[in-house]
Amino acid sequence: MFQMSNKIGRNDPCWCGSGKKYKKCHEEFDDKIAYIKSQGHEVPDHSIIKTPGQIEKIRESAKINIAVLDYVAENIKAGMTTQQIDDLVAEKTAELGGIPAPLNYQGYPKSVCTSINEIVCHGIPSDNVILKDGDIVNVDVSTILDGYFSDSSRMFCIGEVSEEKRKLVDVTKECVEKGLEMVKPWTFLGDMGQAVHEHALKNGFSVVREIGGHGVGLEFHEDPWVSYVSKAGEEMLLVPGMIFTIEPMVNMGTDKVFCDKEDGWTIYTADKKPSAQWEIMVLVTEDGHEVLAY
Ligand code: MF3
Ligand code: CO
Repeated sequence: MFQMSNKIGRNDPCWCGSGKKYKKCHEEFDDKIAYIKSQGHEVPDHSIIKTPGQIEKIRESAKINIAVLDYVAENIKAGMTTQQIDDLVAEKTAELGGIPAPLNYQGYPKSVCTSINEIVCHGIPSDNVILKDGDIVNVDVSTILDGYFSDSSRMFCIGEVSEEKRKLVDVTKECVEKGLEMVKPWTFLGDMGQAVHEHALKNGFSVVREIGGHGVGLEFHEDPWVSYVSKAGEEMLLVPGMIFTIEPMVNMGTDKVFCDKEDGWTIYTADKKPSAQWEIMVLVTEDGHEVLAY
């Protein structure tokens, strides 16, 4: 037998795995998405809409991610190398039964990204890089637990940080919070993106355009690609069960960045002025959102 169409029968089991008939489960939901698509919008396909069972597994992975960042927060200090941060992450993740997702990801050599001052993201931990008083550093942790992925990052201010750097760190966190407020089903990713960059611009900062966030959970990086310079009403439709990151990179000066030619990973600001980033992982729920990792 071959299938004439891949449209699921109304009496067939629903694609979501609930065991209910399609007509009693996601049929109306799919019709609503199809209608919005017909209006010219980008919409999610089933592969990125997580089932309750998957969400539970991803939530467990995210708990490890949070615990690892908490462990870094307790131990990070001036005089420490970024390799020692990598060791803390590797140690704690293993203790909690997870695997660091960055390690060997597309050839990435370490368990975590550590991005100091003018490094925008993807800084590689090293024995030669020592945290010093006045640095701002992003520690970006990602975990795999039983094949389920989580991802979040925080900024740390080392010792006495200048007022302008602290403002950059604080405003970037506020940008994430402003974006988060916009996350609810049947709205668009661009609603979030606009809230993020408006807050950054209002404070005199710029937002990196070329590097964005991503769907996450079943893979490290899934659709959608998430921009923080997008406009309200644009980009992908949000529906319950989607999980993605809000992780804007906010620069004190120009939004222009470049990649280190030697290591192929480290991203710097073009003007070498500082950059900050916070990353949370958010689930779209029936009536709003739930933060899974922060
Ligand atoms: N955690 C980073 C992100 O948010 C992923 C970095 S990929 C790595 O997308 F290989 F550098 F870890
Ligand atoms: Co991410």
